[in-house]
Amino acid sequence: MLLAKFRDEVEDILSRYPVKRSALLPLLNLAQREEGFVSEPAMRDIAKVLDLTPPQVFETVTFYTMFNLKPIGRFHLQVCKSLMCALVGSDDVVTWISKKLNITPGQTTSDKTFTLSVVECLGSCGTGPMMQVNDDYYEQLTEEKVGRVLDDLARDGTCPLKSGPYMYPLPLGKS
Ligand code: FES
Repeated sequence: MLLAKFRDEVEDILSRYPVKRSALLPLLNLAQREEGFVSEPAMRDIAKVLDLTPPQVFETVTFYTMFNLKPIGRFHLQVCKSLMCALVGSDDVVTWISKKLNITPGQTTSDKTFTLSVVECLGSCGTGPMMQVNDDYYEQLTEEKVGRVLDDLARDGTCPLKSGPYMYPLPLGKS
């Protein structure tokens, strides 16, 4: 059982909530952190711990785009396609990424480095077009910037152009 490996962490999470089922999202996060996606065995584990049915857990996993139902690449590129980003070129961002990596939304590169997804608003509407890569935001994207991000991540595993997420106002020196 996946959760058995993390008994202390699971107990700690459960202790934060008066009602067991409220711990569903944190436990799903834990499962995804460990496996890169939320597997069926993990969903069954979580259902058992929280006294839920597996379909109740599945419904939640499929409601939130941040949960992956299958293994993904090392870097998950999530391009916001909601209105404010669409108005400033999110379709172009998807096209640039698709052209450079030869994948379309929902696909993973053959070397398992990148997975591309399109998602709804990520709460960074004033700095679009933007994308989230794993836990980092990359904002005010241009074709050049996207190319640099992908090259840096593939080569170094990190990119200094990441920008947050931050709450407004942006810290001094950020734009
Ligand atoms: S519309 Fe893209 S972050 Fe909100």
